[in-house]
Amino acid sequence: MEEALGIGSFGASLRVENVQALAARLDHSKAIPERYVRPEREEEKLKVAVAGAGDSIPVIDFARLLDPLFAREESARLHSACQDWGFFQLINHGIDEDVIKKMVGALEEFFKLPLEEKEKVGQVEGQIEGYGQAFVQSEDQKLDWGDMLFIGTSPPQRKNLRFWPINPPSFRDSTEKYAEEVKKVADFLAGVMSENLGLGRELYDLFKNGIQSFRFNYYPPCPSADKVLGLSPHSDGVGFTLLLQVNGRPGLQIRRDGRWLAVEPLQGALVINIGDIVEILCNGRYKSIEHRAVISSEWERMSVAAFHLLDVGQVVGPIPQIARREKVLYKSLLFEEYAKMFFKSKLKGKSKLDQMKLE
Ligand code: OGA
Ligand code: NI
Repeated sequence: MEEALGIGSFGASLRVENVQALAARLDHSKAIPERYVRPEREEEKLKVAVAGAGDSIPVIDFARLLDPLFAREESARLHSACQDWGFFQLINHGIDEDVIKKMVGALEEFFKLPLEEKEKVGQVEGQIEGYGQAFVQSEDQKLDWGDMLFIGTSPPQRKNLRFWPINPPSFRDSTEKYAEEVKKVADFLAGVMSENLGLGRELYDLFKNGIQSFRFNYYPPCPSADKVLGLSPHSDGVGFTLLLQVNGRPGLQIRRDGRWLAVEPLQGALVINIGDIVEILCNGRYKSIEHRAVISSEWERMSVAAFHLLDVGQVVGPIPQIARREKVLYKSLLFEEYAKMFFKSKLKGKSKLDQMKLE
């Protein structure tokens, strides 16, 4: 019963038109379909921040975290980044460039395949894994300008190969290798966060045995790029995310002080962000931050989000060590209940997390 164990059963999304195909046959003299036009893009035109000095997200050096000479100082910087920003870029993460290149190469090939070929790993009714869209819950909801492939990568029993492309043939191997490398970095970061929060190894242990899943995003260019969104504003409903902006193409923006701030890709860096589950586990000491993706009128963009979550049977709620000492701000739910709630509604800022808040 491979299927039943996958992450697919946590939710479902209505099937909508493939955006890559739509973009390819779009008549540039005509307007884009109304379902992709976001009125808020017009209203905010003057409000998108241009990152200036001191206004760009923190950069954490993984090599320094590993070096006994600098580890203490760098983990203090990591703690501030988690507290004040909820987002940082990680340099010197040690993942072999070749491993990234191979995975990216396979991904590029996958998205270039004809739609029928990609549809071989298309989402099936009532499941969230596979190629398609996520979080489409009604026929009249606005749609994002992008397609995605969502798969479970670890532990092995959450890996449903039914949704892992076999075309190109290098996809499985290269993704597996990259996922393993990312997991090592993620585990180490969870350990540092755990100690920074005064939790010993607690947070580390929770995530070490948790689920890792991947969302590969594909954003085609759009002739009305300033009217659409690649990915609606949301906070990640996971523990934390390691995001690769493929080929250094920008598009990720985070909400900071009420404005949207672009995250300029740093050569070779991963973008890390705190998700709702970590916010809940540490009773709000670290906050998940709203973010979104915007589109270019000229080029396609890809990104690879590696999500780190808990697993079935674990509790999403403030960790007792913290909850004992302070006012508890969030409810506790079994992970499987939490995950179902998460996939049930469309993306809308931090609204999903609000459902976990106590009065
Ligand atoms: C995500 C995400 C941002 C991006 O997949 O959750 O926030 O730049 N992606 O694609
Ligand atoms: Ni996200």
